[in-house]
Amino acid sequence: AIIGPTRAAARLEGSKIFAKQFMQRHGIPTAKFAVAENFEDAIRALATFSAPVVIKADGLAAGKGVVVARDLEEAEKTLDDFMRRKILGPAGERVLLESCLSGEEMSFIVMTDGRGILPLAPAQDHKAVFDNDQGPNTGGMVAYSDDSILPDELRQEIVATVIEPTLAGMAAEGMPYQGFLYVGLMITEDGPKVLEYNVRMGDPETQPIVMRLRSDLCEILMTSLEGQLAAVGARWSPNPAVCVVLASEGYPAKSKTGREITGIDAAESLGGVKVFHAGTAFRDRQLLSSGGRVL
Ligand code: AMP
Ligand code: GLY
Repeated sequence: AIIGPTRAAARLEGSKIFAKQFMQRHGIPTAKFAVAENFEDAIRALATFSAPVVIKADGLAAGKGVVVARDLEEAEKTLDDFMRRKILGPAGERVLLESCLSGEEMSFIVMTDGRGILPLAPAQDHKAVFDNDQGPNTGGMVAYSDDSILPDELRQEIVATVIEPTLAGMAAEGMPYQGFLYVGLMITEDGPKVLEYNVRMGDPETQPIVMRLRSDLCEILMTSLEGQLAAVGARWSPNPAVCVVLASEGYPAKSKTGREITGIDAAESLGGVKVFHAGTAFRDRQLLSSGGRVL
């Protein structure tokens, strides 16, 4: 048994340009944008934005394909990196330019069987690599889940203005959506606006979310397979949870791997603590780092 979207529906994450044009077709709130197919187009489009401006590679880039450029010089350099120097390979051949939104970010994830939806507890992801939002974006360095970030009224607004039109739009375009649907939102003064879709649970959002889940995840998944998700709810711990990522030095650019890891048992002996492995390997009876985000 498999839970997840079809290949066609997964384009919501696989192409940021597809996702953005889909939002436009279905009136889903999002930032103003332009699409550029080549460097010259991009420079021309850039002239219609004012700084700060957001540059996004169209394709998958493990969280490294988005630059919030503080000034036009940084924007131009990013366009050069993506489109001429091709530092992300084919993922950066086409780009999106977006006006910069401000507010609090939220990761809102729902499970859907194509009929009903089951919203998961909300989370907030912190993507900048260093403390105090400094440095380049990553896949996510810290996430926390706490109900206070999502009052009922806001939840209803997100479901009505984003989730329902997305699912209806996908069905109307012949790509009915099933599985986990993740929307990255900016909660602006004018209401929630979509930054991105992911066609899966987020990393590191999933860790604090599942730490708070009091229902049986397998049962929920089985109910989803049976198309009965509308009939179930999930129980959540009222306590918040937080996930802190330990990354290799050099991440997100180039990471140093092969370092020995110790102290996991001691960490897990603390109450309420769980260590999730992301980029680890076990060789010669040693636990070693093997990726950018390690634990
Ligand atoms: P994305 O992968 O599209 O979610 O972008 C990664 C990160 O870049 C987001 O989590 C935001 O922190 C930031 N970002 C993306 N789009 C915008 C935008 N239009 N305005 C401000 N920040 C943005
Ligand atoms: N933390 C964002 C993501 O999983 O894409």
